[in-house]
Amino acid sequence: MLLITGGAGFIGANFILDSIVQTGEAVVNLDKLTYAGNPRNLEALRGDTRHLLVHGDINDRALVRRLLTDHQPRAVVHFAAESHVDRSIHGPAEFVQTNVVGTFSLLEETRGWWGGLSESARRDFRFLHVSTDEVYGSLGPNDAAFCESTPYAPNSPYSASKASSDHLVRAYQHTYGLPTLTTNCSNNYGPFQFPEKLIPLIIHNALAGKPLPVYGDGTNVRDWLYVGDHCTAIREVLRKGRVGETYNVGGGSEMKNIDVVTTVCHLLDEARPRSSGSYTSLITFVEDRPGHDRRYAIDASKIHSELGWVPRQSFQMGLAKTVDWYLDHPDWVQDVVTGAYRSWVSQNYLGRSAA
Ligand code: NAD
Ligand code: TYD
Repeated sequence: MLLITGGAGFIGANFILDSIVQTGEAVVNLDKLTYAGNPRNLEALRGDTRHLLVHGDINDRALVRRLLTDHQPRAVVHFAAESHVDRSIHGPAEFVQTNVVGTFSLLEETRGWWGGLSESARRDFRFLHVSTDEVYGSLGPNDAAFCESTPYAPNSPYSASKASSDHLVRAYQHTYGLPTLTTNCSNNYGPFQFPEKLIPLIIHNALAGKPLPVYGDGTNVRDWLYVGDHCTAIREVLRKGRVGETYNVGGGSEMKNIDVVTTVCHLLDEARPRSSGSYTSLITFVEDRPGHDRRYAIDASKIHSELGWVPRQSFQMGLAKTVDWYLDHPDWVQDVVTGAYRSWVSQNYLGRSAA
């Protein structure tokens, strides 16, 4: 079986739902159920004995030890993190606590348990750390895309905490021989993404007739990957990745933020037309994010040539599916836009002047 951390969040839940369907392998899912963790994401598995949700913190070392000893996983797949850059700007402490100290705790407990396994079980075990392209910093318009040997240059408290965890994972392989793998992926989108991130926030605000906040001049570039393609990449790395290696994962789909927002608006114009005209009229340029990285781009040639992985979903198709998913799941959205969500929105957007 697999021990997954953070499997009630956006990517982790998609990974568990896909994996159980595709492989049937059982999963123990350790999740703190922060604002971003939602057991409802796994509703399709209710009553399925192959999924066990354990409400707990990766920093709870006794709990992690017990889960490893009781379930003897063949791999740990580590998604748990604080994941939103804007929140890391307002409150970095939690990012250090979960992303850095939490990853350290998980590595320490895994190392201790793994050290007691038979030689062949030790050899076959994997610790897969799910990380981000943001650790590489920011690119200029004509710079080559990030590859696995691009030097780390994180710019936000979020990316610095993820970079730190990547270094710890690397060190545990190098020093103790723990069989680790790391993936550094670009921006994901798809079902179950919490509406604080750009795409679901825009869909949610548009449907509510609220302004669509675009930071700065809207020309910052991200490389977008459909979450299902990310999950496939993680499964391939787990299956065939070389121990100690890192793999960049990307969609080959660089877009300016303003173009992403406009495309969402046009999809909504088709699916849910407004009597007052296009949703694009709600687009509002607002004060930029401090330290806002200009451009991310991924060179995914290593995972392609070594493991045969390529993204299957085009951005247009993936985005259309995503918009449809949010239109079809108003209850899910209503459930997560709680009072705490509204206070976050006030904190992040109310004080922002127009750009
Ligand atoms: P998310 O914020 O949607 O989910 C994070 C999950 O981790 C939640 O379920 C939360 O409850 C859980 N969690 C947080 N702190 C925890 C703790 N201390 N102990 C146990 N569980 C805890 O994040 P996501 O977008 O699904 O991202 C998952 C991973 O993928 C993260 O490591 C992130 O850095 C990485 N990543 C995300 C993206 C992206 O575009 N979303 C891209 C590349 C990499
Ligand atoms: P986000 O989804 O927060 O991901 P990340 O910062 O990890 O790339 O943001 C994606 C891009 O969209 C990023 O350049 C910031 C921008 N953005 C906005 O313009 N407005 C918003 O309200 C948000 C949340 C993001």
